[in-house]
Amino acid sequence: GAAPSLAGRHVLVTSGPTHEPIDPVRYIANRSSGRQGHAIAAALAGLGARVTLVSGPVALPDPAGVTVRHVETAQQMLAACQTALPADAAVFAAAVADWRVAHEAALKLKKKPGGTPPELALVPNPDILAAIAAPGPQRPRLVIGFAAETHEILMHAEGKRQRKNADWIVANDVRPESGIMGGTENQVQLVTAAGVEAWPRLDKDAVAQRLAARIATALAAQATG
Ligand code: C5P
Repeated sequence: GAAPSLAGRHVLVTSGPTHEPIDPVRYIANRSSGRQGHAIAAALAGLGARVTLVSGPVALPDPAGVTVRHVETAQQMLAACQTALPADAAVFAAAVADWRVAHEAALKLKKKPGGTPPELALVPNPDILAAIAAPGPQRPRLVIGFAAETHEILMHAEGKRQRKNADWIVANDVRPESGIMGGTENQVQLVTAAGVEAWPRLDKDAVAQRLAARIATALAAQATG
């Protein structure tokens, strides 16, 4: 049947990679396109939700009908998420860099003839999903994370769900032979406290629509107790 409306609900979505600066011209990044996260934001808006999309640097246009906060670093993404609260639900689809450079150089690092290359000391970035999902008055009622795994997918996804205090984990298979990473299709398993649902291989837009409909159903069910 048709999904319930998300009118009157606010949903936070993160999408894309983060860029962690080394110096004014260089950064550490990853290959996330932001395609799945942006599609989820668009699908939620399509069901009537007010959507705040916190996006790292991507080559995609801002989805129509969505408030987009553009950020570069993980620390900026966390701050933008905290500013966007309260939210009824939150979907963390961003591929956040696990580490940033401990000391960003104010001036471009120069190579000196015969000199040794610089050593980059790294420090861990905050876990945005875990921070927003931590128990407290601002915790969204429904918190959804992603897990991109190459092996023992369900065991790792359930571990992540519990460790980060998420309600659902959307697990996908990113073994190179799956062709999913960077591709237009996705094949996911939805891991909840109730168990695991395997979804068919679908276009990323169709995965987004199906997830948005699931979110709408879950929020409607919670609202009526
Ligand atoms: O630990 P891992 O990176 O595999 O977890 C993936 C999930 O956690 C995704 O939902 C991702 O958006 C989120 N995450 C985050 N902040 C981080 C690392 C991951 O929000 N620093």
